[in-house]
Amino acid sequence: MRLDVASIQKAYKRYAKYYNFYFGWIFNPGRKTAVELTDQSEGAHVLEVGVGTGLSLPLYPSHVKVTGIDISNEMLHYAKELVKEDRLKNVEALLNMDAENMSFPDNSFDSIVAMYVATVVPNPKRFVKEMSRVCKPGGKIILLNHFANKKRIFGKAAELLSPISRYVGFRTNLTLEEFTKETGFEIENKISVNVMDLWTILVSTNKK
Ligand SMILES: C[S@@+](CC[C@H](N)C(=O)[O-])C[C@H]1O[C@@H](n2cnc3c(N)ncnc32)[C@H](O)[C@@H]1O
Repeated sequence: MRLDVASIQKAYKRYAKYYNFYFGWIFNPGRKTAVELTDQSEGAHVLEVGVGTGLSLPLYPSHVKVTGIDISNEMLHYAKELVKEDRLKNVEALLNMDAENMSFPDNSFDSIVAMYVATVVPNPKRFVKEMSRVCKPGGKIILLNHFANKKRIFGKAAELLSPISRYVGFRTNLTLEEFTKETGFEIENKISVNVMDLWTILVSTNKK
């Protein structure tokens, strides 16, 4: 079941107000590890794709310059509020932009990170291709996501939930094998995170 931009925007318009309450602390261990894997050198430019309500923004060191994009204005509203409240001077921009069609020039960023987004975007192949285009050669692309495991009980439940993907705003049944086959994402490092190690961080060095 593929998603489309309109249904994603509709779902996250619904979630925005309560997102931090339900998806905040419980998914923070993964966010923290993923952020630590980005380029942390002085002045490095990091792009966060699908930045949502900006829960990860306070986790970046102050000497790293962060740009966040998202297609949900409602989610971005909360990210902008957080930047103001926490006085995060290193957040350069929070923009409404489609991850599959970014307006940044080629080779703009030293690292790119997308947390809990790979199973949300309508076309994972275009999402990975765009990240590779705007990331400098040799830069790290870091994905954090849950992938279905059809052999596990959760995987079987995910399969059953697949018809409501449009409503919940993510693909419940995408496996890691399907994702890598579809996108060509080359995994250099794989780390299990969050509750029961059910989420995965994938790291790739950008080659082009
Ligand atoms: C599950 S939330 C994750 C938010 C945040 N990364 C976090 O750690 O909580 C997925 C986010 O991806 C955004 N998103 C989905 N498709 C997108 C696209 N094509 N381009 C940009 N953002 C997108 C959604 O609007 C939503 O804010």
